[in-house]
Amino acid sequence: MKLANKSALVTGASRGLGKAIAMELARQGAEVYINYSSSEQQALDVLSQIREQGGTAFLAQGDLTSEQGIKKAAAERTYDILVNNATGPQPELSLEEATWKDYEDQLVFFVKAPLLLLKEVLPGMKQKRNGSVINIGSEVIALGNSHFSSYVTAKSAMLGMTRSWASELGEYGIRVNLVNPGFIPVERHRDVGAKDIAAYHSGVPLNRMGTPEELARTVAFLASDDSAYITGQTITVNGGNTFGI
Ligand SMILES: NC(=O)c1ccc[n+]([C@@H]2O[C@H](COP(=O)([O-])OP(=O)(O)OC[C@H]3O[C@@H](n4cnc5c(N)ncnc54)[C@H](OP(=O)(O)O)[C@@H]3O)[C@@H](O)[C@H]2O)c1
Repeated sequence: MKLANKSALVTGASRGLGKAIAMELARQGAEVYINYSSSEQQALDVLSQIREQGGTAFLAQGDLTSEQGIKKAAAERTYDILVNNATGPQPELSLEEATWKDYEDQLVFFVKAPLLLLKEVLPGMKQKRNGSVINIGSEVIALGNSHFSSYVTAKSAMLGMTRSWASELGEYGIRVNLVNPGFIPVERHRDVGAKDIAAYHSGVPLNRMGTPEELARTVAFLASDDSAYITGQTITVNGGNTFGI
């Protein structure tokens, strides 16, 4: 129970990696707030699964693309852990098709929402002189990705953002780290064929796909005091598909 007496806000926790993160943090003893925008039934399912495991969880609905939604999600509560995980649609666009608005839409999810959420939770963390913020990036920061430049650009901004937040907040005992998943199939990838999956992992040193639970355990490590002297760092969970960053 490494996260006993800690409370965590996990954005985009109604499915996918966010759901696995919420469940793992709760399994390790944290009181978890499940943020989502519109998938209420899925969020309720996560809530009951956590409670069935003996954990503590609550819903924290709020559309993170609006400032009002961000305030609603954070609800002036005090958190020890903030996981910026939510993602909206990730459009596949050539550079001819991509517009500045497409870039802005991705920046709203990966820069604006994390920044405004941080401002909501910061007073509480500063008062406690303790906090762990975990930003979910992607291995594409290292790889680049043709036709997904808006997504990759916004994810890449999370790297400098993480390091700068870590520099500024260290003196308050607040740690900030970035976790970069590789391709980890979740519900939205159900139509990806076995051939494409095999093609991806044939280039991965560990030669298999990662699981949401493996990603979640890395996030839980960064949330816990086991990583008390780690800040401003990136941990990439991709079986060795990239090295560095
Ligand atoms: N899975 C992968 O292979 C992979 C690889 C690299 C990086 N990542 C990163 O990992 C994170 C999670 O990805 P995922 O694959 O688990 O995504 P996902 O399955 O599509 O889940 C997205 C989550 O975000 C929520 N969400 C969407 N719009 C929202 C909004 N406006 N406000 C609040 N919540 C909102 C969704 O809930 P609602 O439906 O209620 O809106 C859902 O809970 C993302 O940051 C993604 O970029 C994933």
